[in-house]
Amino acid sequence: MEEIKVYPDSILRKKAKDIERIDDRIIQLLDKMVDIMYKHNGIGLAAEQIGTLDKLVVIDLRTNGNNRLIELINPIIIASEGTYEEHEEGCLSVPGYYDVIKDRKKWIKVKYLDRNEEEKIIETEDFLSVVIQHEIDHLNGRLFIDHLSPTQKLVFKKEWKKLQREREESK
Ligand code: CO
Repeated sequence: MEEIKVYPDSILRKKAKDIERIDDRIIQLLDKMVDIMYKHNGIGLAAEQIGTLDKLVVIDLRTNGNNRLIELINPIIIASEGTYEEHEEGCLSVPGYYDVIKDRKKWIKVKYLDRNEEEKIIETEDFLSVVIQHEIDHLNGRLFIDHLSPTQKLVFKKEWKKLQREREESK
């Protein structure tokens, strides 16, 4: 997992910067993010997680084993509605920890650019909506653990210490 930044790495707390021009660097970065996401069996990855502050997200839920790659450049949520049911989230940057999140929106409308610099709108609900919200959070320096209740946060702290110890020991 070397290439993925792990909590509490400070870059995960920074705000990503808008991409002004989609040049070779951005295209290569997108390709790299897609590779890393698949390699680690993730369903989403934000650029911050590999150490760069570009406003980039890649997602592939691989529903029923089918690939559907979504690349979002400068994504921004322009409308949202409802609350998604309680569900578990995890994150490649918080490896091994999963917890229930209650405050995600059900439906969202997101504006973004694709790699051909075309402006696009995606309207989506339920699980894909939640994953997009999780990834856009990353671009704002937020992690899913920030959505935990105070009681859940205490559990996380304890559990995370244990997970860190286990990781150290397995090195
Ligand atoms: Co994440």
